[in-house]
Amino acid sequence: MKVKEIVTLQRSLLVDTEKLLNKQVEMEGKSSAYYLSMASWCDMMGYANAAKYLYTHADEERMHMMKIFRYINEAGGHAIQPEITDIRHNFNSLREVFELILEHEIKVTKAINNIVDHAFSVKDFATFSFMQWYVTEQREEETMSRRALELFDIIGEEGVGLWTIDQELGKLHNASVQASGE
Ligand code: FEO
Repeated sequence: MKVKEIVTLQRSLLVDTEKLLNKQVEMEGKSSAYYLSMASWCDMMGYANAAKYLYTHADEERMHMMKIFRYINEAGGHAIQPEITDIRHNFNSLREVFELILEHEIKVTKAINNIVDHAFSVKDFATFSFMQWYVTEQREEETMSRRALELFDIIGEEGVGLWTIDQELGKLHNASVQASGE
């Protein structure tokens, strides 16, 4: 019997599912690094509340990565520490940062939906059920990112606009921290 056959006999996690989950580990790890880099840029530029929002977001993404990482190993697979490269360090504006976040979160939602769809199609209901937490989380993260971006249109960037947007981002951050602690 080949090694691969023995391995798959000892577990219900299919190799294809494991690959998709490891790809998601990489995506969440990259999200964490991406948001950490954005936080640093905001810090450097004096957008203190945007930085706080993004430092917290970077921590949350690492937690997202670790949940899947542990799940893969618990299910009998092999979680792979991802290579994190090509992280952008400079941005053209605060608005651009928040546009990129929303764009990125929509990509993450599509990747999560793809795993859920796959898990259902191969009748891996454990993974299907495990991924429901991510489905809900993505809905919240997209809403939050959209709300942050809307501030730029509602408030405007002229005069004290950027300062006010940064203050509002601080309130959004506090509301989010409170909500996740409830
Ligand atoms: Fe873990 Fe924001 O995706």
